[in-house]
Amino acid sequence: MEIQHVPVMSQEALDYLGPAAQHGLLIDCTCGEGGHSEMFLRHFPTMRLIGLDRDTSIQQKAAQRLSVFGERVSLVNTWFDSYLASYDQAPPTAILFDFGISIFHYEESRRGFSFRKDEPLDMRLDDTGELSAADIVNEYPEERLANVIYQYGEERYSRRIASAICTQRRLQWIDSSKELSEIIFHAVPKNYRYGRIHPATRTFQALRIEVNGELDRIERAIEEAVRILAPGGRIGVISFHSLEDRIVKQTFRRLAKPCICPPEQLQCTCDGIPQLQLLNKKPVTAGREEVMMNAPSRSAKFRFARKTDKEQ
Ligand SMILES: C[S@@+](CC[C@H](N)C(=O)[O-])C[C@H]1O[C@@H](n2cnc3c(N)ncnc32)[C@H](O)[C@@H]1O
Repeated sequence: MEIQHVPVMSQEALDYLGPAAQHGLLIDCTCGEGGHSEMFLRHFPTMRLIGLDRDTSIQQKAAQRLSVFGERVSLVNTWFDSYLASYDQAPPTAILFDFGISIFHYEESRRGFSFRKDEPLDMRLDDTGELSAADIVNEYPEERLANVIYQYGEERYSRRIASAICTQRRLQWIDSSKELSEIIFHAVPKNYRYGRIHPATRTFQALRIEVNGELDRIERAIEEAVRILAPGGRIGVISFHSLEDRIVKQTFRRLAKPCICPPEQLQCTCDGIPQLQLLNKKPVTAGREEVMMNAPSRSAKFRFARKTDKEQ
């Protein structure tokens, strides 16, 4: 049976982005299999949608799923940050981000995203990308590898794990997710092996973030999204770990300040009007019922904001 990704915090996304999206244009920057997109298109029959995703395989699924909406939908295979930076069409009235990867990637992609499976260590969303997880694991100097695991995985045993990987790779090229997961399992202390999460969870997250440049894209993408939004339009961002949420929070706050000129600039040239009005101080999180039905939602944080009107 095919397992389908369940969109996270979909009611909240509808409630908070709906008022702006309903008769306008929504850009779903992380369309995936099209779960959120489909929901918006069904709820708002005059709304149009542009769905972005860098992954060709999952986008084919979205194309099939959303084909019933005909010309209301256009799908683009792209990284969201570069697409938004060069966008020159009608201003969208709402923009949604739902970061990370989909169940599809763990269960069906065969690209080594899951430490439970025995698959090639790839993890690229963009199949033309030059860097795979195997390249990082086998070729990064030990210290750089440890830093990636520490910074992007917040893994406290990063140095032990990097050292074990380097010992093993001297014997042979590490090319499968299972092999890597076993190296990590044996590298960490015994009491860490059977904790709340599998000991390879954080390292796998770190590799995926490094392969796809995930964190580097967020700030620019939000800035560009706010730039192209129609006045009064809304932006919503769902993130899944503190590294992502921190960037979203700081970028939102900066764009909501009256003056955004660099501190070293003596005179304000930005006309002193905040670009964003924050609609929630603390991020919205999934309710108990949703967490029980859909485990990944337990770590989701949803921030949303409104683009200010020019005259303000
Ligand atoms: C969590 S899934 C989205 C699920 C979707 N909202 C749904 O309800 O079906 C995130 C998707 O974003 C894509 N993605 C992640 N980072 C991206 C980026 N920087 N640019 C374009 N697509 C990206 C992934 O390939 C994945 O399909």
